[in-house]
Amino acid sequence: MGGTLGVASCFVSPSPSRSPPKDLGGRRGVGGGYRDAQWDLGQSWAGAPQIDKGGVQCWGAAGTSRRGGIVCNMAKTYDYLFKLLLIGDSGVGKTCVLFRFSEDAFNSTFISTIGIDFKIRTIELDGKRIKLQIWDTAGQERFRTITTAYYRGAMGIMLVYDITNEKSFDNIRNWIRNIEEHASADVEKMILGNKCDVNERRQVSKERGEKLALDYGIKFMETSAKANINVENAFFTLARDIKAKMDKKLEGNSPQGNNQGVKITPDQQKKSSFFRCVLL
Ligand code: GTP
Ligand code: MG
Repeated sequence: MGGTLGVASCFVSPSPSRSPPKDLGGRRGVGGGYRDAQWDLGQSWAGAPQIDKGGVQCWGAAGTSRRGGIVCNMAKTYDYLFKLLLIGDSGVGKTCVLFRFSEDAFNSTFISTIGIDFKIRTIELDGKRIKLQIWDTAGQERFRTITTAYYRGAMGIMLVYDITNEKSFDNIRNWIRNIEEHASADVEKMILGNKCDVNERRQVSKERGEKLALDYGIKFMETSAKANINVENAFFTLARDIKAKMDKKLEGNSPQGNNQGVKITPDQQKKSSFFRCVLL
């Protein structure tokens, strides 16, 4: 359940040879999985979201498709789709954090991401199924053009540094500048100080991480993909904040509070926003 993109103009489509996600015993809601990933990613990443009949944002339409001789029922299995992005220097552990969240596993071999990759996981918040489409960017400078192209459609961005690498922490300010330049103004952000399991090689104190986040008014957590510390918490917190912002916005735009319409002002249109949907 995932794909890799190496060229900016290509559109991501998971390889058909890839196996569907393994059943994780129902512990986590890897909802829709492989089938959904391909379906959703057929929609434009930065395009305007579509609205389903319930007035909730979605990016696909129910239907059926034939794949490999099997007819799939493509009924939508979620209420919201949130697009998240992981950014940060190469080697800080972005891929491992995502792998921990999506597969509940860890790999100590460093395989640097080429371009961009994604994973899907569906979670439940307040009785709603939230499908998280999480994009994992390459930290290496040479992929900057392609990875930056993904900022615009992101509803939430995780900025990751490595607590054992001072430079990766200093660079968080640069990553924030990138967001300010390329992402939607109302994107939710969170800073993660990863690898907190290796305290003996720590170069950045937790207090410095907290202070940096406070300076920017962003939430902060120390995580460990390896020891599974705060990974779940971080993604749930970000998703919760996006949902709260979205619900508030929808409520505010609806005179009766029943999602009858979203008024888009010319000002809002100028600055691309993931709230630019029109409710029918
Ligand atoms: P790029 O894809 O190049 O941008 O790097 P990345 O940020 O995705 O780093 P990746 O997840 O590939 O991890 C880099 C190295 O750090 C790997 O060897 C991982 O095993 C290791 N690593 C990742 N997370 C942790 C962690 O929480 N603790 C420890 N001890 N090692 C970690
Ligand atoms: Mg990576």
